[in-house]
Amino acid sequence: MTSPDSQTEALDDKYLDTTFIQGREFQKFSIDHQIFFEPVDSEEADRMGIQHQVFSKVFDNKLIFPPIPRPQRVLDCGYGTGSWAIEVAEQHPECEVTGVDIFPYIDPNDTPDNLWLQVDDLNCPFTFSPDHFDLVHSRLLATGINRDRWPSYIEDIKRVLKPGGWVQLIEIYFNIQSYSGLMDETHALRQWSSQLMGSLQEMKDPRVGTKLANLLAAAGLENIRSEMIALPFSAWPKEPKNRDIGAMNRENVQKLLPALGLYPFTQLLGMSPQEFEELMKRAKQEADEPSLKVYFPL
Ligand SMILES: C[S@@+](CC[C@H](N)C(=O)[O-])C[C@H]1O[C@@H](n2cnc3c(N)ncnc32)[C@H](O)[C@@H]1O
Repeated sequence: MTSPDSQTEALDDKYLDTTFIQGREFQKFSIDHQIFFEPVDSEEADRMGIQHQVFSKVFDNKLIFPPIPRPQRVLDCGYGTGSWAIEVAEQHPECEVTGVDIFPYIDPNDTPDNLWLQVDDLNCPFTFSPDHFDLVHSRLLATGINRDRWPSYIEDIKRVLKPGGWVQLIEIYFNIQSYSGLMDETHALRQWSSQLMGSLQEMKDPRVGTKLANLLAAAGLENIRSEMIALPFSAWPKEPKNRDIGAMNRENVQKLLPALGLYPFTQLLGMSPQEFEELMKRAKQEADEPSLKVYFPL
């Protein structure tokens, strides 16, 4: 289903072709065009579902942060398995929600009638009409938006927003941190961060999470609010809400470390399958170690 307002290409088989790398399934189009390097299999879909639950807890079940009581048109950039877009469409039946993703994870027939899904590369200029959306949401696109594209991506978002419209951006900064001070260069989690960021940084901007407010300001957006939140890897925090978040995030982290690392480490850095498995084994153990107190800046 495509939105009547869009000139985006209709779904084509080329977007559905997949390729296997060490037992995980990737979108061939994304790999061939160096767009996105995470798996697109059911294991990854499950992980995104868990991650969405974690975010729901972090944000106290709030889907939309800016003050938009009755949104009429919302765009979700990189909708993934659609968790956010589906909930927005369900909570606002009068709102027309549009989702864009390079991979068609979900069957549009299984989504609310007020949700339209499109396949497109967000690295290309937007084809939506100007002054169109009340809100543009973009969550976890750092590994998919090209490094040089970020300024024009934000400008495209601004252009398609109605006057007075809002943008909501959420990114993980992949540089894993430790509250304990016990993590050093010998830890597999440090290696995971430095190798992931190092392998992607020519193409993507793995540090973009720390630059969002500046990018918005540079595009001329106003009334900017930015916040850095610690996303714990397991139930190590003492404070009850963060402890619950850590407990929920544990399974996500155990799946995220190999899912994000597999392609960059084995295909871009040339790590052998054995080296990769060994690094992941150590990284997962460290992620579970309460005394390390590790977290992602979000
Ligand atoms: C890490 S997932 C996050 C999914 C969703 N936003 C969420 O928070 O659950 C990133 C999503 O963005 C999509 N994506 C990445 N780069 C893209 C690009 N250049 N154009 C369109 N979609 C892209 C991926 O296919 C994937 O579904």
